[in-house]
Amino acid sequence: MTAKRLYIKTFGCQMNVHDSERISGLLRNEGYRLTEKPEEADMIIVNTCSIREKSEQKGYSDLGRFAMLKHDRPGLILGMAGCVAQQEGEKVLKRHKGLDLVFGSSNIANVPQMVQTIALKSQPVVMVHEPAGPPKTTPADRKDRVRAWVSIMEGCDRHCAFCVVPTTRGRERSRPSAEIVQEVTHLAEAGYKEITLLGQTVNSYGKNRDEGVDFADLLAMLNAIHGIERIRFESPHPCDMTPKLIETMADLSKVCEYLHLPLQSGSDAVLERMGRGYTMDQYRRIVARLRQLVPGMAFSTDIIIGFPGEAEDDFQKTLDAVSEFEFDNVFYFNYSRRPNTPANRFEDQVPEAIKEVRFERLSILEKRLARKKNQALIDTVLEVLVEGRSKRDRANFTGRTRSNKLVHFGGADDEIGRLLNVRIASAGSTYLEGIPIPSRSQ
Ligand code: 5AD
Repeated sequence: MTAKRLYIKTFGCQMNVHDSERISGLLRNEGYRLTEKPEEADMIIVNTCSIREKSEQKGYSDLGRFAMLKHDRPGLILGMAGCVAQQEGEKVLKRHKGLDLVFGSSNIANVPQMVQTIALKSQPVVMVHEPAGPPKTTPADRKDRVRAWVSIMEGCDRHCAFCVVPTTRGRERSRPSAEIVQEVTHLAEAGYKEITLLGQTVNSYGKNRDEGVDFADLLAMLNAIHGIERIRFESPHPCDMTPKLIETMADLSKVCEYLHLPLQSGSDAVLERMGRGYTMDQYRRIVARLRQLVPGMAFSTDIIIGFPGEAEDDFQKTLDAVSEFEFDNVFYFNYSRRPNTPANRFEDQVPEAIKEVRFERLSILEKRLARKKNQALIDTVLEVLVEGRSKRDRANFTGRTRSNKLVHFGGADDEIGRLLNVRIASAGSTYLEGIPIPSRSQ
């Protein structure tokens, strides 16, 4: 029997990317193999994102485009997954006539069963249950052979005024630590060298379990697994950066010197209205303590521009904060109104034109700072985990430093998955270039 072909289009965060790996992992058992070509697929799934309006619209527009393929391939199964599916439920069937399958992220484990039901019935199948119980362990069809994502918790109990996640991913649920340890052990046995632990507020891991294992304890358990060289995690919330966690990060050899710590705004007044639960001063103390304990510590952050009520003076404070913390990387987004979020009802919305100008100002500052930070690394020697051939230039290879900097260098295929020391020769705002140096053991 020839394999059926599955095409998945993924929008949004790393959790969504990993959810797609899980969907294709489960559908492999149903006889589906991934294809890069939607026009030859037997099933197409759009894994949607609703964090901002633009990402939501892109998902809908792709669904419309893929539905047209049904004219030539009447048997094609069209599915919608992810946060927009969870948010809209049955309603999307009215908007999109061609849909056969709609499911939320907490219903992924039921995908095989849903696909079997479609084969029996001629009606669309919708499954967007409120998530209950800890996230289920499922197989995953991982593309990368060196680095793996591991989901450790899902959902969010914080209620930031701008954010749709509590309504799309539900309340916080953590996986049992033994299942996570088992998954990472299997990954190490399969040759993976780096893991990135995923969760909406990854460092509040364990809160709703009575195992007595918190995030710092989990890091220590994973640090002990032979074969894994590097551990990262994403995204932590500043309020859960406990002194114990900071010290654990400093103590564990495999936990990388890099933290993506969303700040959102440099103005205390805006942070308060966002409901973030920390002040600039508290954030400052976390950064200072980590820099003190961990040499070479790198930080990146998320910033929202034009949150309701953001005055020029508030925005200036954000620019000042970006300069002060010397982030290695800043991800910034114009505020987007989201359904069922408190800030959607705030009256003092910032005009789009003002957001655009502020976006440009932050962009200029961020690029200048990132270039300066990267240029300071020229002539230093950094440990790089070789990921594979460079997409930009197939003759070259790429990898990342422990501080999560992308490095281009000359290499060889048999070095993929190995750690190399690379002397940095030049730097742009988003990458470094260097030359591997022979290690002492060779
Ligand atoms: N508008 C713009 N950006 C948002 N984010 C979350 N919600 C919104 C919104 N409504 C950003 C935050 C978050 C990142 C994943 O997306 O900065 O950290």
